Amino acid sequence: MTVEAAPNPLAEGLHDYRVADPAVMVIFGATGDLSGRKLLPALYNLAKQRSLPAGFAVVGAAMDELTDDAFRKVASDKIHAFSRTQPIDDRVLQAFLASLSYVKVDFGKLEDFKALGQKLQELDNTNHIPGNRIFYCATPPPTYQTITLQLQAAALNAGNGFHRIVVEKPFGFDLKSARELTQTLQKVFPEDSVYRIDHYLGKETVQNILAFRFANSIFEPVWNSSLIDSVQITVAEDIGIENRGSYYDRAGAMRDIVQNHGLQLVTLTAMEPPLAFQANEVRDEKVKVLRAIRPLIGEDIEQSTVHAQYTKGWVLGEQVPGYREEKNVAPDSQTETFAAMRVFIDNWRWAGVPFYIRAGKRLPKRVTEIRIQFKRPPHLTFGREAMKEVDPNAITLRIQPEEGISLKFGAKVPSAGLRIRSVTMDFQYMTSFLVEAPEAYERLLLDCMIGDPTLFTRADEVEAAWTLVDPIEDAWRNARPPLGTYAAGTWGPPAAEALLRADGREWHRP
Ligand code: BG6
Repeated sequence: MTVEAAPNPLAEGLHDYRVADPAVMVIFGATGDLSGRKLLPALYNLAKQRSLPAGFAVVGAAMDELTDDAFRKVASDKIHAFSRTQPIDDRVLQAFLASLSYVKVDFGKLEDFKALGQKLQELDNTNHIPGNRIFYCATPPPTYQTITLQLQAAALNAGNGFHRIVVEKPFGFDLKSARELTQTLQKVFPEDSVYRIDHYLGKETVQNILAFRFANSIFEPVWNSSLIDSVQITVAEDIGIENRGSYYDRAGAMRDIVQNHGLQLVTLTAMEPPLAFQANEVRDEKVKVLRAIRPLIGEDIEQSTVHAQYTKGWVLGEQVPGYREEKNVAPDSQTETFAAMRVFIDNWRWAGVPFYIRAGKRLPKRVTEIRIQFKRPPHLTFGREAMKEVDPNAITLRIQPEEGISLKFGAKVPSAGLRIRSVTMDFQYMTSFLVEAPEAYERLLLDCMIGDPTLFTRADEVEAAWTLVDPIEDAWRNARPPLGTYAAGTWGPPAAEALLRADGREWHRP
C-alpha cells in the first residue's frame, strides 16, 4: 500500500497565483542563448503553475529561417535541457508549444516588422487578445535601439491594449550611451512601459532582503552606523567567461556585475523603508541610495578600487586557462575579471560605514552574499582572554547557493570556566519551505505581464549607477591603479586584501 505524503503546510502559497491579461509576447532573438536557457523554460514553468492567461501566445522573431514547427522543436529541446522543474510534464509542454509561432525578422527590414504586425493581428483574432503586446529584446544590446525604432515605424508600439518593451542589462556602456538608449526607448514607449531586467532583482533571496528588513521589527533599529561597522557584498563566480569573450572583453567585471547587480544589492541593503512595496516607492528609495554614494574621483579611485585579471590556475580541481588565453579575448587585454571597491553612502543612516563590493570570475567558488558586520561590544565584560575566540556579530544574507540567512553571535563554551566562542544561527530556504525557489525569470516575466515594474530598473537608477562607474572606468583605462593579476581559483589579487587591511578589516571567506 502506498501512503500519500501529507501536503506540506509550509509549502503552501509558494506558487504565484497572479494571472495576467491575455497578451502576445514577441521574443526577438528567440533562437539565441537567453531565450533557450532562460525565457522559454521560464514560460513553460509559468504554464505549469497555471500563471499564463488563456489565449497567451509567444511569437519567436529572429534571423533564422524556421517554420513554426521547427521553432517548437527548438523550444522543446531547450525546455527539456534547461527547465528548473524536471521531469517535463508532457501535457503542459504540448499545450505550451502549441502557443508558439515564428516569424523571420531581419532587424534592419521594416517590411519584416510589418509582417510581424500582421501575425500579431491574426493572433489577436484567433486568441481573443485585446491588442496587448510584450516585446522582449533577447538580443545583443546594440540592437535595442534599432528594434525600438522599427517597432515605431511599423506602428507596433500603439493601438488597443498595452505595449511593453523588455530590455536586458547592460543598459548602455557608459552614462552617455545609457542616456541615448533611454531617449530612444522613451520616444517610442512611455517609461512605465519600459521593463529593464536586472535578473538579480527577480531572485527570491534578493527580494527577501527587503522582507528581512521591513517585515520584521527587530533588525531595522540596528541597521545603521551606530551598530554596523561595515558591509561586504561579494558576487563570486567559479566559472570563467565561457563563450562570451567578445562581449566580456569590452565589458569587464565592473560593467558586467558591479554597475548593475552589485549596486542593486547595495541599494536594497541600504535603502530607507519605502511607504509600500510598489514600483515608484521602492525605486525612489533605491535611487536615493545611489545618489548618496560618495563619487570616487582622482586619487580616491587609486585608494578605493582594485581591478585585476585571472591568469591560469586551478578551479574546483580542474586546470583552467588564463583570461588572455580565452576565445575572443585580446592577447594583451586590459579588461578586469575582478573588481572591488570601497564606497561610502553619505546620508544620516550610513555616515562613516564602508560598503565593500567585490565581483570576480574564476574565484574558488560560486557565492553571492551580503555580510553585515556589527561593531564589537563597547566593553569586554568577560575580559580579553575569554573573548579571544569571538568575532563581532554578523548577519549574512546568502543570495546563492544554499540560500538563507545566518546570524553570528558569541556563546559560552560549555565548561566550568568562562570562554566565549562564535556560533551561528541559520535559516535555510530549502529546509524551511521545502521547495526550490522559482527562477528569477519566472517572477520577472510574470511581473511584466501583470504590469508591475517594481523589480525592474528605472532610467534614473541606471544613470545614477553609470555616474558612479564612469570615472572609475576612465581611471582604470589609464592604469590608475594598475591592473593586477590573480591565479584562477584564488580570491583575487593581493590588492583586494590590502584594500580592507588598510582599514583594519578583512574579507569574509564564504
Ligand atoms: C550576468 C553576467 O548578468 O550574471 C554574467 O553577465 C554572470 O557574467 C551572471 O555570470 C551571473 O548570474 P547568476 O544568476 O548566475 O548569479
